[in-house]
Amino acid sequence: MSTIAVVGAGKIGEALLSGLLHGGRPAEELLFTERHPERAAELTRRYGVAAVDVAEAAKRADVLVVAVKPQDIDPVLDELAPLVGPDSLLVSLCAGLPTALYERRFVEGTPVVRVMPNTPMVVGAAMSAVSPGRYATREHVRTVSELLSCVGAVVEVPESQQDAVTALSGSGPAYFFYLVEAMIDAGILLGLPRAVAEQLIIQSAVGAAKMLAESDEHPVILREAVTSPAGTTINAIRELEKHGVRAALLAAIEAARDRSVELGKVHEEPERH
Ligand SMILES: NC(=O)c1ccc[n+]([C@@H]2O[C@H](COP(=O)([O-])OP(=O)(O)OC[C@H]3O[C@@H](n4cnc5c(N)ncnc54)[C@H](OP(=O)(O)O)[C@@H]3O)[C@@H](O)[C@H]2O)c1
Repeated sequence: MSTIAVVGAGKIGEALLSGLLHGGRPAEELLFTERHPERAAELTRRYGVAAVDVAEAAKRADVLVVAVKPQDIDPVLDELAPLVGPDSLLVSLCAGLPTALYERRFVEGTPVVRVMPNTPMVVGAAMSAVSPGRYATREHVRTVSELLSCVGAVVEVPESQQDAVTALSGSGPAYFFYLVEAMIDAGILLGLPRAVAEQLIIQSAVGAAKMLAESDEHPVILREAVTSPAGTTINAIRELEKHGVRAALLAAIEAARDRSVELGKVHEEPERH
């Protein structure tokens, strides 16, 4: 039996608590920290999970999941540093924060696993990429992967690929939302009522996602299957190509990766002279 504490029960922290409970983990094995007493009381009422302070979380939990915003990390590290060690397992869900940041602040040997999740965690359909820090073992990675599998799919990548992951699946849902928004606008342009356009596009997105997830076919094959000779779809595809949509996606995701690298530089170890 292990106790898991979520430090920072905001959107992602709450989604994880909810997913762990749905996955069968008893509420007594879960804890969370939350700055606002009203929100803490509300979460305890909703999930039956106890709210504690960071010190208590560090004392009682075997696994500490840090889910505060990256800009709020410093005070959390200050609080945790004297309380965690090689017997703890630190899981960071914070975008852009390297495992080395934690390792520098904690007792040597404290295992840290970095995770890049995404917002579909709130509906149990996250894509999470995990990367072990220098003191994390295979067992630690397995523990974290098992936890995250309660709220979606999990892959392991080297930490050097986390900026690419951030650009691809971390921000990925936003690209799909953007596409759906634009396609609904197209429906409006064609004279459909907004509610109808929304239903047509959202259900098409759900259906296409289900086909992608459930069939073994490559997306190209699935797309070709709806692109008949001299049909309507190929006319649309010609316009997408003409307007450089594929190149725009490549450039956009590359720009997101570059921004992730830039944000990560803030946490690089200062050079010693
Ligand atoms: N949302 C996403 O799409 C997404 C995707 C991938 C990764 N992430 C990562 O997940 C993390 C959480 O994101 P989020 O969207 O869930 O943010 P959020 O809703 O703002 O949640 C963060 C929570 O941490 C609390 N907090 C801050 N400092 C604290 C402290 N010292 N002690 C206890 N609690 C503290 C915040 O309380 P207050 O309300 O008082 O500030 C808030 O409830 C971020 O690091 C983000 O990079 C998010």
